[in-house]
Amino acid sequence: MVVWSKGTDLKLPRQGCFVSEQEVESNRLEISWRPTTLADSDLLFRWRNSPHVAEFQYTDHVITREEHDAWLPRVLADDRRAYWIVEVDGKPVGLANLAAIDMHNRRCEWAFYIGESELVGKGVGSWIERQVLREVFLKRELNKLSCEVLDDNEAANAIHRKFGFTQEGFFRDHVVKGGRPRNIICYAMRRADYLTKFADDP
Ligand SMILES: CC(C)(COP(=O)(O)OP(=O)(O)OC[C@H]1O[C@@H](n2cnc3c(N)ncnc32)[C@H](O)[C@@H]1OP(=O)(O)O)[C@@H](O)C(=O)NCCC(=O)NCCS
Repeated sequence: MVVWSKGTDLKLPRQGCFVSEQEVESNRLEISWRPTTLADSDLLFRWRNSPHVAEFQYTDHVITREEHDAWLPRVLADDRRAYWIVEVDGKPVGLANLAAIDMHNRRCEWAFYIGESELVGKGVGSWIERQVLREVFLKRELNKLSCEVLDDNEAANAIHRKFGFTQEGFFRDHVVKGGRPRNIICYAMRRADYLTKFADDP
């Protein structure tokens, strides 16, 4: 179990960022993750269709129960993917996953969301991002981690830039959401960049 205080435990340059003692105390969270199982199905179904999550996914329709029930066993059995449930104070609050794990080219993609909306903006996403970086670069020893974000997803773009991801691409009118074409920003971090930037990270 890791005790994580937003803004204090992260060994990153935090230009212009001031976190008061009161804020640190109020945001002190016990965060952990565990592998996702089929028993998490109802939880994931609810999170995935919740407006604050669905707004930033590529798909543009409400996921049906049938669709979800076909999706979860398939992705959990796929060894090119990995899924974790993130818990705060022992309660599930969000999902993180790796996809397209490619051991030949030693790279993968990732995504995450905070399913419980009251936990958004409290530092859980930063904990997940650091944990995923450790998983990919220290545990799995891959060379490259990539992700894609809608260009108007302010929080996701900001967090990836904060952690040192580099923009590698900009796909114009790449997905249609809400009846209009949307742009996608592609980010990546290489192992060498990670090891330099997070050299002091325990
Ligand atoms: C993206 C997401 C996972 C971030 O998690 P979070 O727990 O809210 O993030 P944190 O509280 O750790 O904040 C991390 C950074 O994100 C940025 N950020 C967070 N909320 C933001 C907002 N509303 N606007 C702009 N930047 C924001 C800030 O840079 C922040 O760093 P700071 O606290 O040092 O300023 C979360 O907002 C979420 O689940 N969003 C919906 C689903 C989604 O967009 N997933 C990503 C799809 S690619």
